[in-house]
Amino acid sequence: MPREQPDFVVIANRLPVDRVTSPDGEVLWRTSPGGLVTALEPVMRRHDGAWIGWHGAADEKLRPFDHAGMHLVPIPLTEDDVQEYYEGFSNATLWPLYHDVIAAPEYHREWWDAYVRVNRRFAKKAAQIAAEGATVWVQDYQLQLVPQMLRALRPDLRIGFFLHIPFPPTELYQQLPWRREILEGLLGADLVGFQAPGAAQNFIRLVRQRVGHKTHRDTVYLPDGRTVLAKAYPISIDAEGFETLSRTPEVQARAAEIRESLGNPETVLLGIDRLDYTKGLPQRLRAFGELVADGLVQLDDVKFIQIATPSRERVNSYKLLRDNINQLVGRINGDIGRIGQQPIQYLHASYPREEMAAMYRAADVMVVTPLRDGMNLVAKEYIATRWDNRGALVLSEFAGAAAELKQAYLVNPHDINGLKQKMLEAINASGRETSRRMKALRKQVMENDIDRWANDFLTELNAQRDPHGKTTRPIS
Ligand code: F6P
Repeated sequence: MPREQPDFVVIANRLPVDRVTSPDGEVLWRTSPGGLVTALEPVMRRHDGAWIGWHGAADEKLRPFDHAGMHLVPIPLTEDDVQEYYEGFSNATLWPLYHDVIAAPEYHREWWDAYVRVNRRFAKKAAQIAAEGATVWVQDYQLQLVPQMLRALRPDLRIGFFLHIPFPPTELYQQLPWRREILEGLLGADLVGFQAPGAAQNFIRLVRQRVGHKTHRDTVYLPDGRTVLAKAYPISIDAEGFETLSRTPEVQARAAEIRESLGNPETVLLGIDRLDYTKGLPQRLRAFGELVADGLVQLDDVKFIQIATPSRERVNSYKLLRDNINQLVGRINGDIGRIGQQPIQYLHASYPREEMAAMYRAADVMVVTPLRDGMNLVAKEYIATRWDNRGALVLSEFAGAAAELKQAYLVNPHDINGLKQKMLEAINASGRETSRRMKALRKQVMENDIDRWANDFLTELNAQRDPHGKTTRPIS
């Protein structure tokens, strides 16, 4: 099959790599931020297809190219598109709305227009390159209109959609002035996947109430005889790949070096997140600061590393969060630190996979406390690196991962006293207890890896019958 006509196409807002220009003018490719890329990259490597997405720089047109065994097809975004479609409608309207309005969503008509315009650009590109009967897999909240647009252009395609973030309760979703258009956009797919069964149910209920289609359990019946399935497929990671990386002598040596640089404390706590207001960073830092201030843990014994990966830096709520976290870390370290003893090591930067694996290996307690999160793959990555069954995971009940990772120390991050209590339990747990919990967590993560997720979704997608009897190509 020539590359120009792939029979498997992934469409996501971002390509797996961003094009960045260094201060001395050198052009570099850097792994894009976020869980979507972590999850889909191994899937893409195993299927010979094309990945359509934005390459992270504005006002730049690039030709399709191959990178690390993947065929990438860049979609250009102008500076206006970036401001209105990406920073605006995707990340200042949909993102807060879909995350329980933790920040107030903004509704602007010109942002909506940009969302429609850019979604159409992605749909056209897929329609142009996909082979007859190909499978096209559309990803995430930035591209919810693409399934319908693509179906109109190419009815021969098998179209799947997966939402990586939560789908909001019906009461919140109703706020959206373009609620019906988005539901109709998603109904262009044959299969709509969500992280959790509750999200799929919210969607089905809204389709019934707002679009008026007949539904039964997980199926929507469209007037033209087509059916759309809506189901949960909890996403995962390349668990084996992460474990293998974390076993390398280089990663293990680096993990030892990290602990050494902290003064070899008894317990290292770790948080790794995109710097996002959904991630519950203030709650966990405050809880840790209070544990030290209350004398429940000793500064000599315990250190906290918090990595915050830069994200959506021009969006207002993200700018505010960055300032708040800087202040909070400064205040806690100023209040409870001593000369040569900084309780919180805060780093605002992105790191390659090897360094992340070393940090996971260096950490005794991983602290993941989002106020709302579709899944949270950092929690699963930590578990994949704990092949010696050591280490404890403190995990928010409001992360999708909590439904699967029941042996974690589950917390309500809004309850600071409860959070302190669970962090303390995790710090003081016996080796027997942590190993019992970690074994169960590892069984879950190692068995339900990204291959299983992709296979489950794509098998179901290919099994969806076309009412007109057309056959689609099975993907390799
Ligand atoms: O999973 C949520 C998500 O928004 C992905 O769609 C995205 O790739 C990732 O987080 C990172 O966000 P951004 O592309 O806005 O930096």
